[in-house]
Amino acid sequence: VTDFIPRYSTPDSNRQVILARRPDGIPHAGDFETRVAALAKPEDGQFLVRNLYLSADPAQRGWAANPSLTPVGAPMRALAVGVVQESRDPEVAAGDVVYGFFGWQDYALATKDDLLSRISTPRVPVSYYAGVLGMPGVTAWLALNDLAPLIPGDPILVSTAAGAVGSIVGQIARQRGAYVVGLTGSDDKIHRCRCRFGYHAVFNYKAGDFAKTLAAARPDGFKVYFDNTGGSILDTAIRTMAKNGRIIQCGTAAIASWNPPPQGLRNEREVLMRALTWSGFYIFDHVARFGAAVDKLTDLMLTNGLNHDEEIDHGIEHAAASLEALFAGTNLGKKLMFVG
Ligand SMILES: NC(=O)c1ccc[n+]([C@@H]2O[C@H](COP(=O)([O-])OP(=O)(O)OC[C@H]3O[C@@H](n4cnc5c(N)ncnc54)[C@H](OP(=O)(O)O)[C@@H]3O)[C@@H](O)[C@H]2O)c1
Repeated sequence: VTDFIPRYSTPDSNRQVILARRPDGIPHAGDFETRVAALAKPEDGQFLVRNLYLSADPAQRGWAANPSLTPVGAPMRALAVGVVQESRDPEVAAGDVVYGFFGWQDYALATKDDLLSRISTPRVPVSYYAGVLGMPGVTAWLALNDLAPLIPGDPILVSTAAGAVGSIVGQIARQRGAYVVGLTGSDDKIHRCRCRFGYHAVFNYKAGDFAKTLAAARPDGFKVYFDNTGGSILDTAIRTMAKNGRIIQCGTAAIASWNPPPQGLRNEREVLMRALTWSGFYIFDHVARFGAAVDKLTDLMLTNGLNHDEEIDHGIEHAAASLEALFAGTNLGKKLMFVG
């Protein structure tokens, strides 16, 4: 145990939050049940992870909808940070901190295919490896690097600006000299975006005059829109883009259900007239680059500083309702459950 790894227990059974029924749209607490399973031993090529922080991520809406990713009756597919207890993989050692697909449970039997990152010597509190140094932070870093070549003064617009991805996008863009404008859903989050994440300006997309306010905020238009919501927010944002601007499609939090696929975008002509480029980014296309990105982000955090907020519930019983909180927008920071 280092200063960065919290004290944790090693029970001899495994609590699991299982998918009890296939959700219709956003998963709710009633879609899950908790059960206690026996603890399994690793076989050749496997290692046993004691999960410490279970992650709640918007992507789990898709994972819960997909029978091949989360069968009914199986632990909910989830990312988590844990410590390897026992290993029968020569490249993974007991005591390593690991982040990967370990599910909503106390323990996971995992293989290297389940890993996103392995940290033999943590340089920061290990919960960070699920947030600012996990899928959200690495997504922000790689998507900005790959798709948004910002030069100082470029205006960039970011939705879910106070969230785990958005808060890092905002800060990195600011560090690169961009003029950074955020969109979020409450006054409290606007305050956090201004005071903690360095946004120059932030608007509440739920306020009545949002479209007008946004257009007035940057009459010369945005060079980049980092979109985490899609839907009507995207429709509005398209009309504020500069000529030759670029939209990075990173998330679709505003779409209530993909079944059936919603009819939507009505601003095709704006894309045409403004000569916009619209690029998708999907983090799991970049798994091979994950470890190197974590190292770079850790350096950035320890030199330039990167503020980030965590909302950590204590106890596995909080997992079941965590996704509806994300989609209600009530989370104030990266949502985690400490189960150690
Ligand atoms: N492409 C990729 O590979 C990748 C990887 C990671 C994450 N993502 C996406 O990035 C987005 C943010 O993820 P995160 O982990 O950082 O979550 P987060 O922002 O910490 O939490 C989700 C946020 O989404 C917003 N939201 C929820 N329902 C909404 C709605 N109907 N309309 C508009 N906004 C809504 C809320 O923020 P407000 O209060 O500000 O509305 C909520 O706090 C998600 O869409 C996620 O799927 C994509």
